[in-house]
Amino acid sequence: MGANPQLNAQGELQHLLTIEGLPRSLLIHILDTAEGFVAVNQQEVRKVPLLRGKAIFNLFFEPSTRTRTTFEIAAKRLSADVINLNISASSQSKGETLLDTVDNLAAMQADMFVVRHAQSGAAHMIARHVAPHIHVVNAGDGRHAHPTQGLLDMFTIRKYKGEFHNLRVAIVGDVLHSRVARSQIHALTTLGVPEVRVIAPKTLLPGDMRQMGVQVYHDLAAGLHDVDVVIILRLQNERMRGARLPSSQEYFKYYGLTAEKLAHAKADAIVMHPGPMNRGVEIDSAVADGKQSVILPQVTFGIAVRMAVMSILAGNQG
Ligand code: CP
Repeated sequence: MGANPQLNAQGELQHLLTIEGLPRSLLIHILDTAEGFVAVNQQEVRKVPLLRGKAIFNLFFEPSTRTRTTFEIAAKRLSADVINLNISASSQSKGETLLDTVDNLAAMQADMFVVRHAQSGAAHMIARHVAPHIHVVNAGDGRHAHPTQGLLDMFTIRKYKGEFHNLRVAIVGDVLHSRVARSQIHALTTLGVPEVRVIAPKTLLPGDMRQMGVQVYHDLAAGLHDVDVVIILRLQNERMRGARLPSSQEYFKYYGLTAEKLAHAKADAIVMHPGPMNRGVEIDSAVADGKQSVILPQVTFGIAVRMAVMSILAGNQG
C-alpha cells in the first residue's frame, strides 16, 4: 500500500478506513452513488445483483445496533453472502489473535471485512495484513474514526439542505471520545462547509480542534445561534477514564438539547444524532421526537450509503 493506505495504485478506494485525506470528488461520488441505492431501496424488490457471489464478513468486536444491521441489510440488498461472526462464540475467546482470526476467514474466501473494534487502528492493521483482493471497511475503531457514519450524516445533510457551501453546522457534546465527530468534521470541511462549530465543556474537547478548522464554543445557546444543522453526540461513558462531568443531570442542564435551546438555531434547522441516544442526558425527548429531528431518516439512509461504499470497493482491484 502507498502513502494513503485506503487507495490502490490507480488512486481508487481499496479500503474505507477514515474520511481524513479522501478527496472531495470521492466523497461526492459515494453520496451520488448512494442516491441511486435509495431508489433501489424503494423498489418492490429491494435487491440488485452487484455483489452476487461475494462473501462479506461482519466482525463486530464492540456492540452495535445500527451499523452492524444496516451493513448486513446493505450487503444482502447487493446480493452478497453475509457472515456475521459471533465474537463471543468465536475462537477469539480462546486466545486466538485478531490477525489469526482474519487469516482463517480469508482462507474461507472472504472478499470484504467490515470491522468494529474498541482499539483505534484495528481496521488499518487488518487492511495492511490482508491480500490485495480483500477490502476492509472500518465500522468504528476506538475514538478514531467511523467513516460510514460520517458519510451517512453528509448524505442526510445534503438531502435536507441541498448544498454544503452555505451551511453552519454545530456538533454538540462529547467530542473528545467521539470517532463520529472526527469523521463528521473531516467530511464537513472537505465538502466545503464554511462554518463548523463544536460545543462542549472543556473536559470533553480534544486539544486539536482549531487545527481541524472548527470554531469552539462552551456555551450552548451562543454556539447554536443561527445554525442550519445541530448534531448531538452521546456521552461515551465506556471510553471515559475518570470523572469528566459532575453528573448527567448537570450535563443535561447546560448541554442537553431542549426545545428552548434549539430555538437559538435557525427555525428550519435539522437535528441529528448518530445513536444510540440517551434521552434526558444529551437530548430531550420532545426534540428527539420533534418535527426538526431527522434521527431515524439518518438510519434509513445508512443502508444506501453502505451499499454505495461496498459496491464501489468491490468494483476496485487491489
Ligand atoms: N451510530 C452507531 O455507530 O450506532 P451503533 O453503535 O448502534 O452501530
